[in-house]
Amino acid sequence: MDSLKNRTLLKVIVLGDSGVGKTSLMNQYVYKKFNKQYKATIGADFVTKELHIDEKSVTLQIWDTAGQERFQSLGSAFYRGADCCVLVYDVNNLKSFETLNNWHTEFLKQANPMEPDTFPFVLIGNKTDVDGGNSRVVSNKRAIEWCGSKGNILYHETSAKEDTNVDEAFLGVAHIALANE
Ligand code: GTP
Ligand code: MG
Repeated sequence: MDSLKNRTLLKVIVLGDSGVGKTSLMNQYVYKKFNKQYKATIGADFVTKELHIDEKSVTLQIWDTAGQERFQSLGSAFYRGADCCVLVYDVNNLKSFETLNNWHTEFLKQANPMEPDTFPFVLIGNKTDVDGGNSRVVSNKRAIEWCGSKGNILYHETSAKEDTNVDEAFLGVAHIALANE
């Protein structure tokens, strides 16, 4: 049995434009399921995943949020105490990349962390499978440059549909959140 001191709860908040695949990423990661039917998230909900990292039992509590403005109803109390913020965009959708600045700023404003300059963010570029990569409009290089411009944001590219890199991305999230905890 794990002793209490070896148990850690990490709160992760996932943000990004509507339709980029936030819910799909979480469903693939936790339930190994993908649904091609779009169903907008309303408000926010969480899933949990148990992990073992460095001999610690870690519970990753991942909060999925609504990208559609009319379904956003989260007060700043919701963001407080977050250990990591995951920003998601769609590599085939330029607007979803351009609005990352807004999501980043909004998170820092709402969560108001002690050290905003070093708060851990992870960026995920999703839907790398679409059209075999041919409809992609944001390059890997451009995304990495954006991460550098904000400090040191870790970057992962995923396909929630094909289950490419999804485990790796969330494991990266868990590590960085744990380091900040
Ligand atoms: P909101 O809840 O409105 O904020 O959207 P969301 O970011 O949660 O998007 P969601 O996961 O609902 O996915 C939107 C649509 O994109 C759905 O039809 C998904 O099936 C599809 N989708 C998600 N991820 C992928 C992917 O990696 N590849 C492809 N081809 N489609 C994806
Ligand atoms: Mg959703």
